[in-house]
Amino acid sequence: MNLADLNKIALAMVTPGKGILAADESSGTIKKRFDAIGVESTEENRRDYREMLFRSTEAMSKYVSGVILYDETIWQNAKDGTPLVKLIEQAGSIPGIKVDEGTQALPACPGELVTVGLDKLAERLKKYYERGARFAKWRAVIDIGQGIPTTTAIHVNAHALARYAALCQAAQIVPIVEPEVLMDGGHDIDRCYEVTQQVLNTVFRELFMQRVALEGMVLKPNMVVSGKKSPKQASVQEVAEKTIRLLKACVPAAVPGIAFLSGGQSDEEATAHLDAMNRIGGLPWKLTFSYGRALQAAPQKAWSGKAGNVAAGQRAFTHRARMNALASKGEWETGLEKKVA
Ligand code: 13P
Repeated sequence: MNLADLNKIALAMVTPGKGILAADESSGTIKKRFDAIGVESTEENRRDYREMLFRSTEAMSKYVSGVILYDETIWQNAKDGTPLVKLIEQAGSIPGIKVDEGTQALPACPGELVTVGLDKLAERLKKYYERGARFAKWRAVIDIGQGIPTTTAIHVNAHALARYAALCQAAQIVPIVEPEVLMDGGHDIDRCYEVTQQVLNTVFRELFMQRVALEGMVLKPNMVVSGKKSPKQASVQEVAEKTIRLLKACVPAAVPGIAFLSGGQSDEEATAHLDAMNRIGGLPWKLTFSYGRALQAAPQKAWSGKAGNVAAGQRAFTHRARMNALASKGEWETGLEKKVA
C-alpha cells in the first residue's frame, strides 16, 4: 500500500467546490427510478441515461470530483464505443466502483440486515483497478425501530466495513466507508444522533482493529436528521449543529473528508444542510456530498428516456451539481435555486 497516493486521491475526492456523484444504483434500484419516469430498464437505456450524465461537461469538470459506478456500468461503452470510464476520466473526474453485493437478513436479528460481498473481493478489486477505478464504496444499512438496531447488527456491519476497507487499501483503492442509519422511521433527531454515534464509534474501532489507514479513506455517513415519519421535523440549523457536534466527537481528524449520502432528503434539503454545516466552519476534515437521489432526481425527470431531452437532463444535473458544489464551500443561497438556466 502506498499511503501517500491513497491520501492524494482521498483529498481529490473531497476538494472544496466538488463532490461525488453516486450513480451506482443496482439493477433493482435503477428499475425503481426508471419506473417512476416511465422508462423501461434495459441495458441500453441504463447506458444512455448514465452517458448523458457523464457527458455533462460543465458539471463533470467543475463540480464532480468522482463518480461511483455499478459493476455493469464500469464495463459499458458509450454509444460511440468509448468506455464510460474514459468519459469520466476525460472530464477530470475519478471513477469509483460499488463493490458490496447488497444485503441479506441477519440471522437471529429479525428485521436487520448485513451487507455481503467480501468473498473474492480481493480479486474483484484487482480487475476494477485495471479498468480505472481508484476508489470504492461499501454501504452498511442500519434501521431504527422498535428494539433495533441491536449491537449485533451494528457490530457485524462495522466488521464487514473494516474488512472491505483494508482489502481496498491493499489493492491501492480508496475505500468510501458508508454506514447508513436510515431516516425512514418515526424517530426524532435525538434518537438518530444516539444511534449514529454508536454506529460511528463501532466503525472507527473496527477500522483501528483492522489497521485501516484513516488518511486513505473517505467517510460517507448519514446526517443527523429526524425520521421521515416523525411529527417533529428538525430545522436546517439544528440538523447542521447536531451533525457537526456528533462528527467532531466520533471522526478522527486524520480522515481527509466526509461525503454525505442524501438518504431520501429532498434535493434542496440535502443542499441546505450541507451548506449550513460548511458555514459553521472550523472543521478538521472537508465536508462534501456523495449524493445519489439528490443529484439525479431532477435530471431523471427532465430526461424521461427521450433522446430529445438530453440537453434538458444535462441542464438539470448541472444545476444540482452546482448548488451542491456551492454548499460544499458554504456559499449556497436559496435564491440561487430559482435561477435554473
Ligand atoms: P442517496 O444520496 O440517494 O442516499 O445515495 C447515495 C448512496 O450512494 C447510497 O449508498
